Amino acid sequence: MALMDKHKVKRQRLDRICEGIRPPILNGPMHPRPLVALLDGRDCTVEMPILKDVATVAFCDAQSTQEIHEKVLNEAVAALLYHTITLSRDDLEKFKGLRVIVRIGSGFDNVDVKAAAELGIAVCNVPAASVEETADTSMCLILNLYRRVTWMHQALREGTRATSVEQIREVAGGAARIRGETLGIIGLGRVGQAVALRAKAFGFGVIFYDPYLAEGVERSLGLQRMATLQDLLIHSDCVSLHCSLNEHNHHLINDFTIKQMRQGAFLVNTARGGLVDEKALAQALKEGRIRGAALDVHETEPFSFSQGPLKDAPNLICTPHTSWYSEQASIEAREEAAREVRRAITGRIPDSLKNCVNKEYLMAASQWSSMEAATVHSELNGATAYRFPAGLIGVAPGGLPGAGAGVEGMVTGALPLAHAIAPVSHPPHTPSPGQPSKAEADRDVPSDQ
Ligand SMILES: NC(=O)c1ccc[n+]([C@@H]2O[C@H](COP(=O)([O-])OP(=O)(O)OC[C@H]3O[C@@H](n4cnc5c(N)ncnc54)[C@H](O)[C@@H]3O)[C@@H](O)[C@H]2O)c1
Repeated sequence: MALMDKHKVKRQRLDRICEGIRPPILNGPMHPRPLVALLDGRDCTVEMPILKDVATVAFCDAQSTQEIHEKVLNEAVAALLYHTITLSRDDLEKFKGLRVIVRIGSGFDNVDVKAAAELGIAVCNVPAASVEETADTSMCLILNLYRRVTWMHQALREGTRATSVEQIREVAGGAARIRGETLGIIGLGRVGQAVALRAKAFGFGVIFYDPYLAEGVERSLGLQRMATLQDLLIHSDCVSLHCSLNEHNHHLINDFTIKQMRQGAFLVNTARGGLVDEKALAQALKEGRIRGAALDVHETEPFSFSQGPLKDAPNLICTPHTSWYSEQASIEAREEAAREVRRAITGRIPDSLKNCVNKEYLMAASQWSSMEAATVHSELNGATAYRFPAGLIGVAPGGLPGAGAGVEGMVTGALPLAHAIAPVSHPPHTPSPGQPSKAEADRDVPSDQ
């Protein structure tokens, strides 16, 4: 075959491979001023100082990709997001120039990381910022189930008096001793380990189940490893969930596995709502098979006590997916997420990223990335002309005032596209997305982590 023909065939083959797939990561800097979009929030005051000299930052305040403006879908190179927006393959395909997604938090189950990799998009998280907060809250919930503080507080509020032993028994009924109890941890990652260390100090015997962890962790932490989930459930007085939610463990706690738990055991979940079949849990609480449960995360969020299968379940403590939150953790996570975006913009993807969670998929999907840059889409690595000015812009679905479109849907306080704002310095107590600020009082709190 003549050299030209060979070239043509090779080119056609590559074109076929490329069809429908975003070109994978090519090395080299991106456009000098790419567009970075905060998808499900609008406070960029922490992110701006970190990104302002290398990017234009837009905020979308969207709950779904339908609410994201076309400009962002077409031109955003990096996306920051909390946990209130989900990015499925279909959603990801709507973004035409996206190279990196950074979850402001540790869980990334709201992003299809495999599809992202196949589209050439790196996905990163911020794994460390809230480990202590989440472990502390988990402990707080565990202690509440044993010591019944929440219920005693409620009884007092309702006017119950507790002076005689009989009255005390009435109010504090069910409060139990911790020493000698066995806490079973499912998922011994960062949070699981931090909970294990805390629980030991309270007198719990700690066992765990985590089939993905290498042998030996149990020895370094002085914990007992269970070979199967069933073993863990059979041996635990209190089960605490700390595993990531993935395609293999949806409804890990269901009617069948609840029946493997000890009669009258406690259940705590600060990991992900999808891990627990709430209908089965509600039934078990009503029947007393589970003595009490404490949930920070729910199958449907934001959680409401007046809806869903748990609405009339007894002995239940619920918090609104806030285990992760402290002002410090929130700021730390946002700063770290912005730094990751900065690394993506100024360095090489995925090599310069610190916490890329789909690197393996990305590398596998970009086997063919060694081909010459010229053979793939030319808009990567600086070829696209970004028309966004430096600074912060709000881009809402209704349109862009600067572009002459309607402003319907523009969020309060968002600046028109054509108006760049001066860099915002980072105040010591920046209102965070977990903290309703005056403008956000009417919105649901984005659940982080
Ligand atoms: N409620 C909150 O505000 C909040 C805050 C932080 C983290 N989280 C959630 O808590 C969980 C733990 O976070 P992390 O940072 O410790 O994550 P991590 O990745 O460090 O640890 C998760 C562990 O779960 C294990 N695992 C996965 N599937 C499992 C299964 N089927 N059975 C047993 N173990 C399994 C993994 O091997 C890993 O060791 C995540 O789901 C995260 O999204 C929630």
